[in-house]
Amino acid sequence: MDAIEIHGGRPLAGEVDVSGSKNAALPLLAATLLAEGRHHLGNVPLLADIATMGRLFDHMRIDLDRDEVDPRRVTIRVPSSPRAEAPYELVKTMRASVLVLGPLTARLGHARVSLPGGCAIGARPIDQHLKGLAVLGAEIRLEHGYVESSAPRGLKGGRVVFDVPTVTGTENLLMAAALAHGTTVLENCAREPEVVELARVLAGMGARIEGAGDAVVTVHGVESLAPMKVDVFPDRIEAGTLLVAAAITGGNVVLHRCRLEDLDAVAAKLREAGTRIEPIGDGVHVQGPRVPAPVDFRTAPYPGFPTDMQAQLMALCTVADGSSVVQETVFENRFMHVSELDRMGADIKVEGHTAVVKGVPSLSGAPVMATDLRASASLVIAGLKAQGTTLVQRVYHLDRGYERLENKLSQLGAEVRRIRA
Ligand code: EPU
Repeated sequence: MDAIEIHGGRPLAGEVDVSGSKNAALPLLAATLLAEGRHHLGNVPLLADIATMGRLFDHMRIDLDRDEVDPRRVTIRVPSSPRAEAPYELVKTMRASVLVLGPLTARLGHARVSLPGGCAIGARPIDQHLKGLAVLGAEIRLEHGYVESSAPRGLKGGRVVFDVPTVTGTENLLMAAALAHGTTVLENCAREPEVVELARVLAGMGARIEGAGDAVVTVHGVESLAPMKVDVFPDRIEAGTLLVAAAITGGNVVLHRCRLEDLDAVAAKLREAGTRIEPIGDGVHVQGPRVPAPVDFRTAPYPGFPTDMQAQLMALCTVADGSSVVQETVFENRFMHVSELDRMGADIKVEGHTAVVKGVPSLSGAPVMATDLRASASLVIAGLKAQGTTLVQRVYHLDRGYERLENKLSQLGAEVRRIRA
């Protein structure tokens, strides 16, 4: 199994490109199911989760071809009637597979998608997706661990009020409503940039959507949609991770292809910690502090501080000049990195959804392992600062959402490499 070996202590310096966004690419791939024909996507990141979506398309008898010269260019040929099924083996590997439920039900009138089950960071139910589809007239049955949805005469518009703002739930309903008969009003929607981007691309395919990015979104259903041609926008979480990596090492880095406007909450906290962050050209210039100041932060749906950046910023807090208080409000079990950071010499106490991080003068390298994607990134960041060698194991978590993070970090001068451990 692969592991990442890091010799800490070097400030990052130089320039690096941010890759295409995982959480934008996945719903865009699902949205191709809404239109028969040939779709073209560029800047699709080379990630394990995208490969899983590829395997799901294979199962659904949909051709997905990567360009031989530029493998980030993908062509998808959606037939008139793909197999409308997402099996357990794939959904259990990647929960976002559930994104095919809305588009399949809307276009084909039926779908069979495995229930995802629990997950390392929380229970993560999909009740809001199912409730929304039922409002649009789908008959939903749960049988043998699968969701069977059926709307033989098509979906019809309705009013859906989400109990919690859910990112993939909002995306599933946007896609379903795009082909429903009549008008759908979605309330308490997720407002993440990836949701707004999906709505923008759907509009380019012919959908009629008003208010994306607001809590209330109105969708006027249309008869059919045309295939998409789109480049996936840059990954704000990869960018945020690299910003923290630069900050913790006191580095001086330029990130190209970085949309600073999507990173307001993260940039604000990094500035509070003493980091200089300036927009420059197509990206951002970041200069880390000598010693970070402590910062208190609380995760929340967008535009709040993203839960997907909590573990990484906490790594910065471990070496701050004072104590930070971190609250996780989105997922119930997203502190699994804490015990591993403590093994590296951090001083973190968790009480319920709150972690108190007492800054220490230095971390010490250690063998560590992660239980989820962003936790692995946090351990890599800690390793960049720690004295001695850190070995981050279970790198398959990292590979789900970061395109060869070790290559980007070594491009910036870090002493880091992938080994077989
Ligand atoms: N929730 C429900 N019922 C539902 C749906 C969600 O109770 O039907 C709850 C969840 O349990 C959670 C909260 O609502 O407590 C928010 O979850 P959300 O549905 O927004 O999460 P998601 O759509 O499953 C996406 C990202 C995650 C990211 C979250 C929150 C994708 C493919 N995944 O997940 O990304 O953490 O939004 O921003 O977009 C990651 O990339 O590492 C990752 C986990």
